[in-house]
Amino acid sequence: MSNMQIEQANGKLGILTPGMGAVATTFMAGVLAVRKGISSPIGSLTQMGTIRLGKRTENRSPLVKDFVPLAGLNDIVFGGWDVFPDNAYEAAMHAQVLDKDLLNEIKDDLEKISPMKAVFDKNYVKRLNGTHIKSEVNKMELAEAVMRDIEAFQTSNGCDRVVMVWCGSTEIYIEESEVHSTIEKLEEGLRNNHEDIAPSMIYAYAAIKMGVPYANGAPNLSCDVPALVELSKQTGTPIAGKDFKTGQTLMKTILAPGLKARSLGISGWFSTNILGNRDGEVLDDPDNFKTKEVSKLGVLEHILQPDKNPELYKDLYHKVRINYYPPRGDNKEGWDNIDIFGWLGYPMQIKVDFLCKDSILAAPLVLDLALFLDLGKRAGMKGIQEWLSFYLKSPQTLPGLPPQHDIFIQLKKLENTLRHMMGEDLITDLGLDYYEED
Ligand SMILES: NC(=O)c1ccc[n+]([C@@H]2O[C@H](COP(=O)([O-])OP(=O)(O)OC[C@H]3O[C@@H](n4cnc5c(N)ncnc54)[C@H](O)[C@@H]3O)[C@@H](O)[C@H]2O)c1
Repeated sequence: MSNMQIEQANGKLGILTPGMGAVATTFMAGVLAVRKGISSPIGSLTQMGTIRLGKRTENRSPLVKDFVPLAGLNDIVFGGWDVFPDNAYEAAMHAQVLDKDLLNEIKDDLEKISPMKAVFDKNYVKRLNGTHIKSEVNKMELAEAVMRDIEAFQTSNGCDRVVMVWCGSTEIYIEESEVHSTIEKLEEGLRNNHEDIAPSMIYAYAAIKMGVPYANGAPNLSCDVPALVELSKQTGTPIAGKDFKTGQTLMKTILAPGLKARSLGISGWFSTNILGNRDGEVLDDPDNFKTKEVSKLGVLEHILQPDKNPELYKDLYHKVRINYYPPRGDNKEGWDNIDIFGWLGYPMQIKVDFLCKDSILAAPLVLDLALFLDLGKRAGMKGIQEWLSFYLKSPQTLPGLPPQHDIFIQLKKLENTLRHMMGEDLITDLGLDYYEED
């Protein structure tokens, strides 16, 4: 049992998002609507979830937000960067996720959130033609400019603390290389404009260097390199990534653990999507899609462990497709065909047709990640926060450790981390009463 020293969440918390598109504006508008009492934060564990404490007979299940000292929604200030100059109201109208009526009720507050100029290079996101971008050409100077932005934001908004959550586009696929291996090499690479340092890594460097907690909602490398993990430990910064777990992958990590738990075999899992938002347009480019594909494909392998269960999963054929289809906008449709087999190898099929709203699923994750990272920082936690894997499609782990994808194990890890922070017993679900004498 431990009772960590956790600083109270006094004062204002700034949540900064590089990228103010569909996800970020749905998140901001949602929090503002909840604050006004015109909507509910559904899908957010920090706001609506409860956590069981002690023995079942004790009947203690407080709301998560009443159990751990999180920043309150009224104390949040929003900010961000984008390659387009639209304020959050205009960007949310463009994204067409939320009803116009709802957006008009919070228009005044949304209009006040204007993006700062972005660190952007079209070579990394080919389908975007941004104009609202910083003029520095040197990557280290760009990182310094982001640090100045953070400082200026914090001062002008009177924020006690700041966190950053990447909500920008998916960049082209970049493999981890030498330049990412140590802080010194990364800093040299920034000064020499190394091509393996994408804009999302420049923001991540700036945040982590300043001790600002950083979460990565896209599959970009960003903070998932040894240099930035090392820096995060040096500067006492909690970090988490990669890629918000929503839509089809969320379903996959709910279904696959159940099939495995019953020792049912799987011979194939074909997943395809149509979506028509800007994210879909960016992902229509093969180089950008590759980054997403890698993030989506790892999930089943780690949950099913074909090496340990060869008869059930070694021949599994896994395919993931994303198709850009403008008429749908943010209303994605994801189909899964799952070929399974049971007793004596008899085949069966499962079909999933998920008509989801991507940003509606992603927005609460931005909130929870921001609030939990801020909590972690106040509790003195630093480096990769594996307990936040619950929210991520391709969880960042310590070197050599496999990621945990099973959503139920992820939840248990998250809850036990909160219990540990607050000095409560960890829950193992072992029913000791079976062994007790009458
Ligand atoms: N919606 C989901 O369910 C979901 C799930 C997992 C991951 N994601 C990821 O989250 C990210 C955001 O998704 P979205 O639907 O909001 O996309 P979006 O296209 O609506 O918004 C992304 C915004 O980022 C901006 N941008 C791109 N590069 C930038 C840079 N270097 N600096 C500042 N701004 C930049 C774009 O101009 C755009 O406004 C994407 O990478 C997406 O893959 C989304």
